Amino acid sequence: MANAFRGNLLFFTADPKDAGEQAWQYIEDGLLVVDDSGLIRQVGSYASLVDQLDSSTVITDHRGKLLMPGFVDCHIHYPQTEMIAAYGTQLLDWLQTHTFPVESQFSDYDYGVKIAERFCTELLRNGTTTALVFGTVHPESVDAFFTVAQQRQLRMIAGKVMMDRNAPDSVLDSAASSYSESKALIEKWHGVDRLSYAVTPRFAPTSTPEQLAQAGRLLEEYPDVYLHTHLSENRDELAWVQSLFPESSHYLDVYDQAGLLGPRSVFAHGIHLCDDECQRMARTDSVIAHCPSSNLFLGSGLFNLSKMDDYGIRVGIGSDVGGGSSFSAFDSLADAYKIQQLQNVNLDPFRALYLATLGGAKALSLDHQIGSFQAGMEADFIVLDPQATDFLAFRTEHCRNLKELLFVLNTLGDDRVIAATYILGQLAHSTATVEGDN
Ligand code: GUN
Ligand code: ZN
Repeated sequence: MANAFRGNLLFFTADPKDAGEQAWQYIEDGLLVVDDSGLIRQVGSYASLVDQLDSSTVITDHRGKLLMPGFVDCHIHYPQTEMIAAYGTQLLDWLQTHTFPVESQFSDYDYGVKIAERFCTELLRNGTTTALVFGTVHPESVDAFFTVAQQRQLRMIAGKVMMDRNAPDSVLDSAASSYSESKALIEKWHGVDRLSYAVTPRFAPTSTPEQLAQAGRLLEEYPDVYLHTHLSENRDELAWVQSLFPESSHYLDVYDQAGLLGPRSVFAHGIHLCDDECQRMARTDSVIAHCPSSNLFLGSGLFNLSKMDDYGIRVGIGSDVGGGSSFSAFDSLADAYKIQQLQNVNLDPFRALYLATLGGAKALSLDHQIGSFQAGMEADFIVLDPQATDFLAFRTEHCRNLKELLFVLNTLGDDRVIAATYILGQLAHSTATVEGDN
């Protein structure tokens, strides 16, 4: 048996910055055929595939809607779900005033499960099917998150925060305990079902050099886990890092000295990087998670995407909830566009959607499994409704081509546009009360 989904298919096979119009495929009235194990079996036009389907195949009709791979969020904090949109401060104050008190509750496993449920529901409502996720310092927070993600069969990467200074005791560990607790979580969760582990020192100011060295030790012992942290987000943060690590030539050097750079290392923000930092990022094939919504909300600065492109640094998009003020990839892309506008650069809607799908998958080294529609890949996909509201129907009726339509969706779209989200070919969210079946 198989399931097939009919609609307009859009997916990327390369970066539009390199491959131009060859970077994507748009199949009007296409068919996505998914086998029983949730893997993509065939992709093509409805007309070319319909006669080859075996008789038991169930076709779900999404004609008039756009089917795309699910969005990939390359940087987000699940414990901050309840404090999204906290008023009044920039990064360092915001952490002390809003973030650390909220995160201190996550020593309670049940509380973590409750918030993780809400978080995963919100991701799926917004069409995000994979994310790289911060827990809190408490190992219980990661057990809770992975338990919920596993139940929902989600492809997720997460880790316990390592932080051993410059915060309240309720959110601190030690260099030794952060090593042993992270190690136990790696052994328990990494590679289980669709879950992977990320070693997660919060950022340089809340870790001693000893703790960063322990993070490096974990990466040496487990070469296929990820490294996930923050880098060069806010000017006051940069000055603080300089004063805490006077021996380091710049922010990235702090992480480099601890052995934290590499192709599975994802650094959130990277707004104020110098040339040497960019060179080291490129040389080590490290990744930046650009978080447009957060950068505007926390007043952090304007990310230089062109410079990253010039250096050949992989970039993904992160919502950075709760520093970011929306779960929606559309909001992130709309903000990304405006951030580039302020630097006289146009962010093309194809490039933007690439970054939110296959680009994100590449940033997380998951592009063999997710992020595109190729036979053998996992069928995590979304159904976009360009007529989700009366006004969107009116506006999109005036779009003359696909590029205009995508730009309007990027700019005006929100959770209402996500008509459905599928995980491994199974419906995981729908705006419809009754799902059509033929
Ligand atoms: N830097 C250190 N911790 C955080 C956090 O929780 N959010 C953001 N945006 N930046 C950080
Ligand atoms: Zn963050």
